[in-house]
This record gives sequence, C-alpha cells and structure tokens, in this order.
Amino acid sequence: MTSLQPVAARTDQLTVDEVREVLALAQAAGDTDGAYPLSEHVVLHLRHGGDAPAVHLLARDPDGALAGYAHLDTTDQVEGAAAELVVHPLRRRRGLGRALVRAAMDVTDEIDPRGRLRLWAHGDHPSAGALALGLGFVRARVLLQMRRSLFAPLHEPRLPEGVTVRPFRPGADDEAWVALNARAFADHPDQGRWTLHDLRVRMAEPWFDPEGFLLAVDEADGRLLGFHWTKVHGARGHQHEPIGEVYVLGVDPAAHGTGLGSALTVVGLRHLRGRGLDQAMLYVDESNARAVALYSRLGFARWSTDVSYRRIVHSVTTAST
Ligand SMILES: CC(C)(COP(=O)(O)OP(=O)(O)OC[C@H]1O[C@@H](n2cnc3c(N)ncnc32)[C@H](O)[C@@H]1OP(=O)(O)O)[C@@H](O)C(=O)NCCC(=O)NCCS
Repeated sequence: MTSLQPVAARTDQLTVDEVREVLALAQAAGDTDGAYPLSEHVVLHLRHGGDAPAVHLLARDPDGALAGYAHLDTTDQVEGAAAELVVHPLRRRRGLGRALVRAAMDVTDEIDPRGRLRLWAHGDHPSAGALALGLGFVRARVLLQMRRSLFAPLHEPRLPEGVTVRPFRPGADDEAWVALNARAFADHPDQGRWTLHDLRVRMAEPWFDPEGFLLAVDEADGRLLGFHWTKVHGARGHQHEPIGEVYVLGVDPAAHGTGLGSALTVVGLRHLRGRGLDQAMLYVDESNARAVALYSRLGFARWSTDVSYRRIVHSVTTAST
C-alpha cells in the first residue's frame, strides 16, 4: 500500500477486515443520509470480488479508525474513470471528502492523459454537490434507476408491419449499428457519439452476448430501424443473483411513433426472462421524459436517483514545432 496523501492511502486489493470496515462505514452513512452511498455494483465487488480491478482509497483517523473511503473504477476506456466516495457522518466537514476526491484526481492523472473522472453521488445529497462543484466538477447527469419484476405479466410484443427482430451479427452489423445509434441518440451526445471502437470495446467484454443484442429490421430492405441491447449483470465470476438490464434501447427517428420502442423493450424483457432472470433494471436520464414515460407504462418504477459530476478535463497538449 502506498500513501498518496497523509489522509488517503491507496490499495488495489482490500483485505477482508478492510472490506468489513468499508461496509460498516457505508452503512453508517446510509442510515444517516437516507441513501446508501455506494452502488450495488461496487458493494457486490467489495463482498465477492469481481472481474475488473479497482483502486481503493482509505482515509483514517489518527487512531486508525476508517473515516472515509473512495472506490475508483478505472476500467471504462470510453467514459474514463468513475469514483464513489463516502465520509463517516461523524467525520464530515474536516476536509476528508475533498482529500479523497483530490487523491482520486491524482490517480486518474496517472493513468489518463486527460485526467477524466466522474463522481457518482447516490441519492443526490446536497453535500456531494457542494464538494464536487467546489473542486471544479460540473453536474453532468441525473440518472434514474428503474426496475421491474420479470414475473409480472409481459404482453406479446406488437411489432409494426414489415418489421422483424433478429440478433446482432458481430462484424456484419457493426457499421450500420453505429450509424443507427447516432441517429437514435442525436440529442444525447454521450450515447450518440459512440464510434466503431466504442462498440468493439464492449463487444470484447465478457458479458457481451449477441443473442441479447436485438435489432429491429425492415423486412423489405434489411435496414436497421431500432435495437434493444440487453445485458446480464453477474452471470460470470460473481456470486450474486444475476439481474437483466435494458442496456441501450434506440429507435431511428424515422420510425418514431410506430410503437417500435415499446415492442423492442418487451422483446428484450422476454429474452431476459427466457434466460431465467427474475428482475430487470435500467438507467435512464431523468431529462429523457419520453423514455421515462415508456418504461413507466411497461411497469418499471423508480428505484433510485444517481447524480454524476464530471471533472472539467484538461485538453491533451501536443508538442508544437
Ligand atoms: C459528500 C461527502 C463525501 C463530503 O465529505 P466531507 O468530508 O464532509 O467533505 P469536506 O469536509 O472535504 O468538504 C469539502 C467542501 O465541500 C463542501 N461541503 C461539504 N459538505 C457540505 C455541506 N453539508 N454543506 C455545504 N457545503 C458542504 C464545502 O464547500 C466544503 O468545504 P468547507 O468545509 O471548507 O466549507 C459526505 O457528505 C458524504 O459522505 N456524503 C454521502 C455520500 C456522497 O454523497 N458521496 C458522493 C460525493 S461526490
């Protein structure tokens, strides 16, 4: 373990005792704040280990008691690193939160020339906003997590006339899908800017399964009209119940208003249920009213609210002649 700052020590692997301390700290904060500070994903990885490495930052009191913790996931090549952090309710307003964020910024500066970093605040805690904005982050996204039981009835999908659904064909569909995604998410730059590289990075992930990446095609000319990319969390290398996700759902604006989005959602949910999953979740931007309404109509209910703060990144400077 190397010390980054006097208060924040860094390690890539927590001991069993450290995991216990972190979970007790998170529990104390959750009880006080009314929102648990770590995502389910992070907690499961703490408890059971995971398939991806992580950086842990531990801030201790002089007597050794754990006062603050940050979890840094550095594996997302597309979006950059993401951190979650928590300070014990009795140790707040002493600069620990700021020290943990600064330590996380130092780590990302080491591994990413642009120093990209997102902070996730679960429950939209006002202290989190004050801390993040004070360190030069901007409020980037408000994400709703919605969930639905897969035991609840799922009607037959009603696809528009002349449209069929088939699985994604790696290699053959890559380019057409990137173009469709750009059209479908023209108003959502994060998603709409995905390149072939962004797609292929995900296709190389162990969770990628083309059978769950469903494309709606025009029967007449084979044109892609929409897609529902599902994802199964926790199927491999985890010791917890897997859960299905509506990972990305998109419809070509030319096919809007035909019921395709709703039909594709149902097709994907039925696929997940067919895989033996009993629950589905999804993340949706709160500002995407059309999508929130669609999911609500299909039985999804709000589960939690997460806010991400994005660091204003440095531009990569190139040597001038
Ligand atoms: C957010 C959190 C990590 C802050 O931890 P902390 O150790 O109290 O933060 P610091 O003492 O380093 O505060 C740094 C600055 O943030 C701001 N801030 C933090 N808490 C604040 C509050 N309750 N009200 C107003 N400003 C606050 C202040 O500007 C503060 O600087 P100052 O004390 O010099 O005025 C802590 O409240 C927490 O664990 N919350 C629940 C988990 C969470 O929301 N995590 C996401 C963080 S992005």
